Amino acid sequence: MKIIMLGAPGAGKGTQAKMIADKYNIPHISTGDIFRANIKGGTELGKKAKTYMDQGLLVPDELVVDLVVDRIGQDDAKNGYVLDGFPRTIPQAEALTAALNKIGDKVDFAIDVDVPDSNIIDRMAGRRACVSCGGTYHIKFNPTKVENVCDACGGELILRDDDKPETVQKRLTVYHEQTQPLIDYYTKEQILKSVDGTKDMSEVFQAIVDILGE
Ligand code: AP5
Repeated sequence: MKIIMLGAPGAGKGTQAKMIADKYNIPHISTGDIFRANIKGGTELGKKAKTYMDQGLLVPDELVVDLVVDRIGQDDAKNGYVLDGFPRTIPQAEALTAALNKIGDKVDFAIDVDVPDSNIIDRMAGRRACVSCGGTYHIKFNPTKVENVCDACGGELILRDDDKPETVQKRLTVYHEQTQPLIDYYTKEQILKSVDGTKDMSEVFQAIVDILGE
């Protein structure tokens, strides 16, 4: 099963993608996580990506497309994957469609996690990310057992640099301009499904399972 997660920054794509990956035993491929790992590792890609991410801008398509096409060609992705944060522009979507066409393949579902902008700023201000494993929590909606300590690995939790309110606002603007057109793109491809992302996390997940099947 090949799935794309769509939705505004902070809509809950990552939260749901992890749950989908666990349930259907497919890899969760997050371009944001890949860039953050590169930033942490001090790689050339990480240095380039950081200059865009810190401003709330998208990393240029040419730095993203090959990386994803290569990743979905790896062995663990043979039976499917859930893409989180990619594609994010029409050229990225076209590049993905073309790469899959070449091997006679296609995406099965594009799931839009729909959350209005008014909910997003609060969600982002309360999000905490683990510096060690990248686990994501929320101080109100998904708190850790011990404050500021990751439940999964014991790592320290931080507010992501790009989750400060002024950067979130910029990310939302970029989302509406560059990513929202993908809703039309995948509607035309007849694989778009929308879920109400304002509901509780488990209810959102159930709505997704209803779409994907048990
Ligand atoms: P990326 O990491 O992909 O960020 P994003 O798309 O902005 O999405 P987020 O990770 O911020 O949010 P999410 O929707 O996953 O929400 P989450 O589940 O964490 O990208 C970061 C940057 O990298 C981009 O800005 C760009 O610069 C660059 N980049 C990445 N991919 C790129 C690409 N393809 N092309 C170009 N540039 C790229 O949830 C948010 C919070 O809400 C959490 O605290 C969570 O616990 C909570 N929450 C989740 N669901 C619920 C719920 N139902 N109710 C209440 N709270 C909830």
